[in-house]
Amino acid sequence: MKKEINILENSHLVLSKLSQGILLTTKVRNQINTMTIGWGTIGIEWREPVFIAFVRLSRHTKEMLDEAGEFTINVPNEQTDQSILAYCGTRSGRDTNKIQDLQLTLVESDTIQTPGIKELPLTLECKILYSQAQDYDLMPGSVQKSIYPHVDPEQDKTSQDVHTMYIAKIQKAYIII
Ligand SMILES: Cc1cc2nc3c(=O)[nH]c(=O)nc-3n(C[C@H](O)[C@H](O)[C@H](O)COP(=O)(O)O)c2cc1C
Repeated sequence: MKKEINILENSHLVLSKLSQGILLTTKVRNQINTMTIGWGTIGIEWREPVFIAFVRLSRHTKEMLDEAGEFTINVPNEQTDQSILAYCGTRSGRDTNKIQDLQLTLVESDTIQTPGIKELPLTLECKILYSQAQDYDLMPGSVQKSIYPHVDPEQDKTSQDVHTMYIAKIQKAYIII
């Protein structure tokens, strides 16, 4: 069962958990992959409620997002085993099936193909409206040094491991019960 929530009135339920990590899940053909994210925000653009995620170029999730055009967000509660977030934040879907390894329970979404995850009950169904790689040259020097120490500013821009910003319409928000 799903209990629908108004995401703009309840954004704190998501934002307050970000610092410990929440899950962003993608699906391309038969592969379902999830990764931990700690950066993101909820707001309004183009008159729509949006979730904005920041995903590094090197993540397997980035390739999947670009193909799928959608994702789900799942937020842990007090019962959630915190080791799920550590595992999904250190293993890549290129090497292993994290959903199977952790025996996570998938729940079909109502408006997109990507499922949610029951063990992290608060779910957002998100459709990507816009994505843009952030420009290393426009970042403050302190951020360049602390977050992107390995980027060589002289190298080809397409190989810089910067974050891409994904702005996605929150189509539905609910708690799986
Ligand atoms: C607490 C935590 C927060 C993280 N936040 C982000 C994030 O916001 N963006 C990002 O690109 N990677 C983030 N990561 C790293 C990815 O979760 C990690 O590289 C993951 O293994 C990528 O999986 P994938 O290759 O299957 O996409 C975070 C990791 C942890 C542990």
